Amino acid sequence: MKIFIDTANLDMIKEINSWGILDGVTTNPSLVAKENTDTPTHVKEIAKILGDRPVSAEVMAVDHEGMIKEGEKLHAIAPNVNVKLPMCIESLKATKALSEEGIDVNMTLIFDPLQALMAAKAGARYVSPFIGRLDDIGAHGVDMLSETVQIIHQYGYDTEIIAASIRHPTHVLDAAEMGCDIATIPYDILKKMVAHPKTDEGIAKFKADYEKVNGPSQ
Ligand code: E4P
Repeated sequence: MKIFIDTANLDMIKEINSWGILDGVTTNPSLVAKENTDTPTHVKEIAKILGDRPVSAEVMAVDHEGMIKEGEKLHAIAPNVNVKLPMCIESLKATKALSEEGIDVNMTLIFDPLQALMAAKAGARYVSPFIGRLDDIGAHGVDMLSETVQIIHQYGYDTEIIAASIRHPTHVLDAAEMGCDIATIPYDILKKMVAHPKTDEGIAKFKADYEKVNGPSQ
């Protein structure tokens, strides 16, 4: 499974990039707004850190012509920038046009497997089902993700599914178990995915036992 970080914070991106596990970045207007810089400047910085790995940047236009123009501008920032479009009829039209130009689209705000199917048919390179926001309203985000994975994979679309709106490590585990292509994960959850108290306990015991016969280790 590919791991993306879901943030626009440069320090977080740099840190997770240094771990050697980062496959891409997703941003959204709310995440970029927290960083207090304008979107093109900020996306350029992120794209530079990522090299040839994908970075999603979202358009604000609501009609397909505007989405196409804004998408072309975002992609012109760097070749690894793909265009995030919110799911709707206008964005289906824009997806078709942008994908024919060779510009990757990440269809976002997906809450139903049929929305993902429509986006895949229009040529979206990525679809982003939001798990956490469905859980927030008492629905089952993981079930929706699982149905989406089943449908998109069974027809062999050239569309990767990004498990999005992840709230805790179990969401990532669920996505990995069902064979979801990608999870876009917030920084604090990535940190939790590395840690286990039994690992810390084991390291401390090995160190103490080593030092009994060898003296101080470091
Ligand atoms: C995905 O690309 C979105 O940026 C993100 O996962 C939204 O998550 P949230 O529901 O925590 O805002």
